[in-house]
Amino acid sequence: MRPSERPLITADAIARRVTELGDAISTDYADRDLVMVVVLKGGLFFAADLARAIRRPMALEYVRARSYDGQRSTGAVEVAVVPERPLAGAHLLVVEDILDTGRTTQTVLDMLADMSPASLALCTLLDKPVRRIVPVSANYVGFTIDDFFVVGYGLDFNERYRELPSIHVLE
Ligand code: IMP
Ligand code: MG
Repeated sequence: MRPSERPLITADAIARRVTELGDAISTDYADRDLVMVVVLKGGLFFAADLARAIRRPMALEYVRARSYDGQRSTGAVEVAVVPERPLAGAHLLVVEDILDTGRTTQTVLDMLADMSPASLALCTLLDKPVRRIVPVSANYVGFTIDDFFVVGYGLDFNERYRELPSIHVLE
């Protein structure tokens, strides 16, 4: 198994889309200070670029959720890292690498909703809607893709390939 030679989504295309998302989020949060909740590890690269494309005051928090063993979803989701401070009354924007079955994201959203935020929104770089099992949808989507297993720009296969600048299909 290795990444396709040709990217599915190039680093340039990602950068352009991140700028667009940053503009949209800056407009939507014009009168709200936001807390970006980065879902580790996959959301790291996207969140780092997106944060710099949002021209609004923000704070960062991290959560760590895992549901994947290689290419197979085990169904079990573990939230291993939780926010360091209470988030009651905060405007939360969860930043995810990919929305697949929806199990991971739903678990994260449920945990954050329990903290009584003022608002809770979701931004995902990639969306694979045909794979959805739990009916979760994102407020902001970078790219909608077909049912490919992809790596790069934060996305891994058994912890490999996160560092690739573009997104590739694993073949
Ligand atoms: P879900 O809980 O099924 O939505 O899975 C979400 C998690 O599975 C993501 O945060 C990724 O870590 C992983 N995942 C799902 N699809 C892919 C993929 O195509 N490439 C790499 N990781 C993926
Ligand atoms: Mg993963």
